[in-house]
Amino acid sequence: MLNTTAIVTTSRNSNPTNDLLAEQTAKTLGIPFVPRKTFSLGELRAVHDAPCILVAKNNALVLETPDGELFFHPNMSHLRVKNLRKGQHDNMAEAMALAPGMSVLDGTLGFGADAIVASFVTGEHGRVVGLEASPLIAAVTAHGLANFSRENEPMTAAMRRIEVVNTDALAYLRAQPDNAFDIVYFDPMFRHPLMQSENMNPLRYAADHAPVSEAMIAEARRVARRRVVLKETSKSTEFARLGFPEIAGGRYSPVHYGVWRKS
Ligand SMILES: C[S@@+](CC[C@H](N)C(=O)[O-])C[C@H]1O[C@@H](n2cnc3c(N)ncnc32)[C@H](O)[C@@H]1O
Repeated sequence: MLNTTAIVTTSRNSNPTNDLLAEQTAKTLGIPFVPRKTFSLGELRAVHDAPCILVAKNNALVLETPDGELFFHPNMSHLRVKNLRKGQHDNMAEAMALAPGMSVLDGTLGFGADAIVASFVTGEHGRVVGLEASPLIAAVTAHGLANFSRENEPMTAAMRRIEVVNTDALAYLRAQPDNAFDIVYFDPMFRHPLMQSENMNPLRYAADHAPVSEAMIAEARRVARRRVVLKETSKSTEFARLGFPEIAGGRYSPVHYGVWRKS
């Protein structure tokens, strides 16, 4: 079950830019915009019976969940792109056999770190579409990818190119023609999380936890021109359950990539 009951507001010391962002976000998501005035988030949560609050502040969207706050940040993609620019390899890009000009459908966008790396590698002639089932996460990520401004030029360009769609991956895949994307990629919420990291709790609260279904993989195989790639923990039984014949990723890495190639 997706946690989606939410309202949109601003910080207490808002400005016209953030007011506009909050109002537009509320309209796009079809949820109430509530002027912040002097209310605390706790008060707004109680009055509006909304566990999640999207707050427009500093020209960004922050998602306040009962388990903590979520905001867009390039996270590990910064280091991964830096390493790629130095000529080092990236396990995900290798599992995808990614090259400039390719198209990637990221079926589980989250905060977009993997999509940013894919966008960097595929470059200006490539295409990366990111699907996110949670409307709240999709809103935060879409705004961040389009507006985050504290990055270098290649990272910024990679972020700006990503197309975000708030949808369930299966529904999107079903609407695509055969061979529509070179790569179809999934990085679902792990069946058995690697660590009980408290930092992950807000994402866990808002995210779609449903396991990848066999129907999703069947559709992904139809839509992929080259490969379907699934990221999971290295000991996961999901690779076998979902029919991935190859496993890629560092021998000592806690995560692996299941690879299915279209022959
Ligand atoms: C582990 S996170 C992905 C992290 C992402 N790869 C990154 O680098 O930031 C999984 C995300 O996929 C989303 N998700 C799970 N199932 C989905 C589905 N069927 N369709 C679309 N999004 C889905 C979750 O809501 C969550 O935000």
